[in-house]
Amino acid sequence: MTEPKRYLVTAALPYANGPLHIGHLAGAYLPSDIYVRYLRLMGKDVVFICGSDEHGAAITIRAKQDGTTPQAIVDRYHESLKTTFEKVGVDFDIFHRTSAELHHETAQDFFRVLNEKGEFTKQTSEQYYDAEADQFLADRYITGTCPKCGHEEAYGDQCENCGSTLSPTELINPKSKMSGATPILKETSHWYLPLDKYEEWLRPWIVDGQLEGTSHHDPKAWKTHVLGQCKSWLDGGLQARAMTRDLSWGVDVPSELEGAEGKKLYVWLDAPIGYISATKQWAKDNGKDWEPYWKDKDTKLLHFIGKDNIVFHCVIFPVILKAHGDFILPDNVPANQFLNLEGRKISTSRNWAIWVHEFVDEYPQLTDVLRYYMVKTMPENKDSEFTWQGFWESNEELVNKVGGVIQRVVTLINRNYDGKIPDIDPSLSITCSADKEKTSTYEAEMKAVQTHFNRISEFIEKYEFRNALAEFIQLADLGNGLIQHNAPWALVKTDPEATKVVLNIGAQVAAVLSVAMSPFMPQKANELRSILGLGEFEGTSAWDDTRAALANNKALLESGHQMGQPQHLFSRLKPDWVAAQVQKLEDSQTKETVYEAVKETATFDDFQKMDIRTARITAAEKVKKAKKLLKLEVDLGFEKRTVVSGIAEFFSPEEVVGKEVVLLANLAPRKIRGVESQGMILMAENDKGELDFVSPSEGFGSGFVVR
Ligand code: MF3
Ligand code: ZN
Repeated sequence: MTEPKRYLVTAALPYANGPLHIGHLAGAYLPSDIYVRYLRLMGKDVVFICGSDEHGAAITIRAKQDGTTPQAIVDRYHESLKTTFEKVGVDFDIFHRTSAELHHETAQDFFRVLNEKGEFTKQTSEQYYDAEADQFLADRYITGTCPKCGHEEAYGDQCENCGSTLSPTELINPKSKMSGATPILKETSHWYLPLDKYEEWLRPWIVDGQLEGTSHHDPKAWKTHVLGQCKSWLDGGLQARAMTRDLSWGVDVPSELEGAEGKKLYVWLDAPIGYISATKQWAKDNGKDWEPYWKDKDTKLLHFIGKDNIVFHCVIFPVILKAHGDFILPDNVPANQFLNLEGRKISTSRNWAIWVHEFVDEYPQLTDVLRYYMVKTMPENKDSEFTWQGFWESNEELVNKVGGVIQRVVTLINRNYDGKIPDIDPSLSITCSADKEKTSTYEAEMKAVQTHFNRISEFIEKYEFRNALAEFIQLADLGNGLIQHNAPWALVKTDPEATKVVLNIGAQVAAVLSVAMSPFMPQKANELRSILGLGEFEGTSAWDDTRAALANNKALLESGHQMGQPQHLFSRLKPDWVAAQVQKLEDSQTKETVYEAVKETATFDDFQKMDIRTARITAAEKVKKAKKLLKLEVDLGFEKRTVVSGIAEFFSPEEVVGKEVVLLANLAPRKIRGVESQGMILMAENDKGELDFVSPSEGFGSGFVVR
């Protein structure tokens, strides 16, 4: 694989419908920012692209909720997102927006090209329509029960619980997001992209990394969970997907095309093209040419995203790029999974979230600690969890390990040598940093430093940021071991020459730490630079210089170099800080109880149609690959039934066996995950989404009618 000439790194365009929370940061923005900062310090040609995604249901639904216009929503949140990213140190080369004219033109041009090349088919079909709101209901305008996993709030395009791609007509009990109405079917025609037509090259490209005309792509470098999702789509067979919608907000279908009136581009067609229009804008602003970044085979294109975006970046957008022609395909799509918060899913509607702007405004000095902890708990390969306790412990680690070594080295060099790096005799022996029973030398210790530093690079290049950070801490540990084992404050009295060696190495370690921490904690890294009497990073290739210096046995801080005064880089947090943060989170939760509206009147006859019975659960087991489902054996006294029930998140199989319950016994049987469910157990659900059984008193008996 040849070395890329340039890099184009994109981070998923966030919907401009709300502020940024820590889940977003952990998913796409922090990993991409770290990677880009690393590349910049390696002296690479890299452009880092993002912007707000300003179309789609996310925006219009939010506008409706707030009683305002979509334009007002996107204007507000575009600005809010942009400043939040700046404050948390996510440093895009451009933060563009899809409402920009340049974007509309670019997206329409794509549509024209694909249309002219005959890549679309036009199809008329019946789609769900909300007669009350006078609107077709595609994608997120419609919700219902997922046919694959039973999740009750699946969207018309996707189930966020099991990740399945859906179409609205697959939903069980569909409901309009606009009015709550049950939709009706109505005919409409649209432009479709027959994804199946591209399977022929998608599979070899994704799975084997072999496709004529694409470079760099190495499927072994793709994350297992990303590759797994891609394979399962390919294995499931791809289908034609509509690329237009009947909507009033979005990019118009080019008006010269027949039937364009009232039609907009599908938001997942327009949004990723936003990466291209943003690159064009960046090029314009900086007197550069955008085309090599998207068209030259020597460019390494990377999309950083969250796991709910995988199909769009690994299948649909590549198909669009390839069908258009001339464009390169991504080299990798290092998607992350989801971050949970204090034992629960992050929920914006329930305000179970940490809002990044609120945190950095309240604790600007903890911004980099937040970044550090978020990397430590990054959901790289599986879902992970943010806890305030974990945050606190990470801060302690930084104070003790990173702050510790730097503080001691800088203090002692100031005390003993007026802050000047001491000249040393490298042949002297000192106590080894790793083992206090062994001796070591300047050269041996610096070799170990080099090994850690190079490993950090290797991990970053593999998108293994957690491992990179662990290696960074090992480097700090090396420094701490060195100081601990040699006790230079005492050694100086007995062996001043060996002390110089120890503190010289300590200073080199501090300098290497400043470089190694820069992608993760850019602000703290610059603070450390100034303590060490070094210049800031911006515009330098400090990483590559450090790599070269270590490889050539060159000191990073030459003898005689004057450093600054010691200063605390990190500060302890009081132990009760954790409880206060957790309390704040609990208190800020949306507390008003949301009661479901009473449904339309049912006649007595309607009610009489339902045969509801008392029953007893006699056996229970989990349904494979369905987090929410239990398969239950239910005894009605006169017969036994199998029922699949969506309660597994609240009850284990063990605890439900023996339970007396109430069963809707004449519900038409249906297959769920291949199991025929013969009835439905009645459950109560509160506003937190918690379930509980509706049960007769114990010992009441099974099979009796409820009326
Ligand atoms: N707005 C989408 C989301 O938040 C991501 C869009 S990524 C892009 O899930 F590729 F379409 F830009
Ligand atoms: Zn599902």
